[in-house]
Amino acid sequence: MEIIIKENAQVASEGAARVVARLVREKPNAVLGLATGSTPLMLYKELIRLHKEEGLDFSKVTTFNLDEYIGLPRDHEQSYSTFMWDNLFRHINIQPENVHIPDGMAADVPASCTAYERAIENAGGIDLQVLGIGSDGHVGFNEPTSSFASRTRIKTLTQQTVADNARFFEGNESMVPRHCITMGIGTIMEARMNLLLAFGEGKAAAVERMVEGPVASVMPASILQHHPVAKIFIDEGAAADLKLADYYRWVYGGKPDWQRDA
Ligand code: GLP
Repeated sequence: MEIIIKENAQVASEGAARVVARLVREKPNAVLGLATGSTPLMLYKELIRLHKEEGLDFSKVTTFNLDEYIGLPRDHEQSYSTFMWDNLFRHINIQPENVHIPDGMAADVPASCTAYERAIENAGGIDLQVLGIGSDGHVGFNEPTSSFASRTRIKTLTQQTVADNARFFEGNESMVPRHCITMGIGTIMEARMNLLLAFGEGKAAAVERMVEGPVASVMPASILQHHPVAKIFIDEGAAADLKLADYYRWVYGGKPDWQRDA
């Protein structure tokens, strides 16, 4: 794991955007795994800016989103499909046929999950996966005790996730879908790079357990300790509980320029 602590979420998001942009410039047909939630919003804003002002070209890029609620039509205002089109896709030159988001209205959900895994494989696998982290340590919607070997499948949200996400549903927990489709942890671990963002003190405990705690399925994000290229972009708030924060700063500060991509 590479822990990159920046002074605030904006600066961290710009650093993460530079990692994504470098990949897309080096590999124009890159396959990106994308996340929703409030955390990646500034990253997506910066990618839109890079597209508009610096010509970052997404015309050959393929994307796969991590997850989607079951039971929300694609055009529902809280579907992750709507989120992605509103906050990124509509503003860049991605080809709609290259966008993949699990279908929360699929008639046969297990079959659609298998097809999703096959589509990732057929695209050549994910080059870079963007991740957030839930306050309970979930990545995608892989809630605590999700199998590290899991693939795209149905999951039931925890009560904590339902409560956390109620803010997007008029603060009303009963409106939050209880089920979702999510890439599995096994799927996420096959991405060639994982880029996880976490901001604010509300994420500090989960970040500490992810980075410095034992690898355990009860803290799904901790599996990233086993990933060969996991970049963790956090702000000071999310870094607040890290025991080795000064060491991570020292490592990052001492990087030679040729190794510093963010
Ligand atoms: C959501 C999403 C995750 C996201 C996480 C954190 O439920 N399924 O992909 O990373 O919870 O959300 P936020 O970034 O809003 O804190």
